[in-house]
Amino acid sequence: LSAQKEGFRFFMEKEIYEQSEVLSDTLIGRLAEDAILFDELNPSLLEGINEIKLCACGTSYHAALASSYLFERLGKIRTSVEIASELRYKEPLLCTDTLFVVISQSGETADTLETLKMAKAAGLKTLVVCNVDNSSMVREADAAILTRAGIEKGVASTKAFATQMAVLWMFSLYVAQTKDTIDAETLRKQIGLLREVPAVVRVHDDLHERIRRLSKRYLHGHGFFFIGRDIFFPLALEGALKLKEISYLHAEGYPSGEMKHGPIALADPELFTIALMPKNLLYDKTKSNVEELSARDATICAISDVPFEKADDFIPIAAHDHYMLEFFETMVVLQLLSMEIAIRLGNDVDMPRNLAKSVTVE
Ligand code: AGP
Repeated sequence: LSAQKEGFRFFMEKEIYEQSEVLSDTLIGRLAEDAILFDELNPSLLEGINEIKLCACGTSYHAALASSYLFERLGKIRTSVEIASELRYKEPLLCTDTLFVVISQSGETADTLETLKMAKAAGLKTLVVCNVDNSSMVREADAAILTRAGIEKGVASTKAFATQMAVLWMFSLYVAQTKDTIDAETLRKQIGLLREVPAVVRVHDDLHERIRRLSKRYLHGHGFFFIGRDIFFPLALEGALKLKEISYLHAEGYPSGEMKHGPIALADPELFTIALMPKNLLYDKTKSNVEELSARDATICAISDVPFEKADDFIPIAAHDHYMLEFFETMVVLQLLSMEIAIRLGNDVDMPRNLAKSVTVE
């Protein structure tokens, strides 16, 4: 097994480092100069569709939630997001002008699979974004887009999430292009940004070393709040989930603007706040939320492309001119941070206690 790790300490680490390559695979053949190409999709898929409903569990749910911002902003289509285990029993009103999209690394998660069957039975068109060809969901859905992340061994999902985000971003543009709600210039720019993603997620030694060194300050305390706004809120949820899964420390993801509605009461030096502060998305708003926490003595670790003097620790990302590039780079920082904390705590990062790679029972 250690040979398969190719010199990395854990599969999770290897998979974080593989993200650049698998993202290239995910994009290949799907980006023309001025169009998104999904040869696997029948052009009639979006006919009569006025809404998208995304449904998933765990990390795949975070990809769903994050991409919902893109479906509305870029795709200009009404979008809702559901946790599969909730949707199953809430007696939802499903309409046939909704495209039902399930997202799953394995394609076998029981709750997600059941919602797919439920949507089909209600007469909805269905699409799965999946990493495993010939999985139950791929066989069940009307259409499938494969994420091409390769086999993911680490229980904590990393590269599968990255490729889900790339596919969902492309699909939001595909919706806009099909419905003719995006101008050629914007589409071209978005395609240019997508092409930059594989380079953006490449792990640089100095960044990894900085995170490794800094991680020793985050091993104890009352707990963690990962905070962000807009699409960085679901990314904060994902950062918190990663940390919980492998470090067994308590962590919550929260929208930055919600902290003052309750959680700020917890602020003290033992409350670790991981603040996602991208320059290109609501920076000033997030900054003022983080300053409020800092004023109450919370320990702040800021991840940003703008230096933030009120932070106790600062993890710099490269200066990008679009928030989606900041999103992908911040994602890598969060993955490395949770992994380094868990390793320092002596945990088996690939096989966290109580967890299985694929949850095939409800
Ligand atoms: C991710 O780190 C988790 N281990 C877990 O939340 C996972 O994303 C979830 O169980 C869904 O799995 P799926 O993508 O295979 O459906």
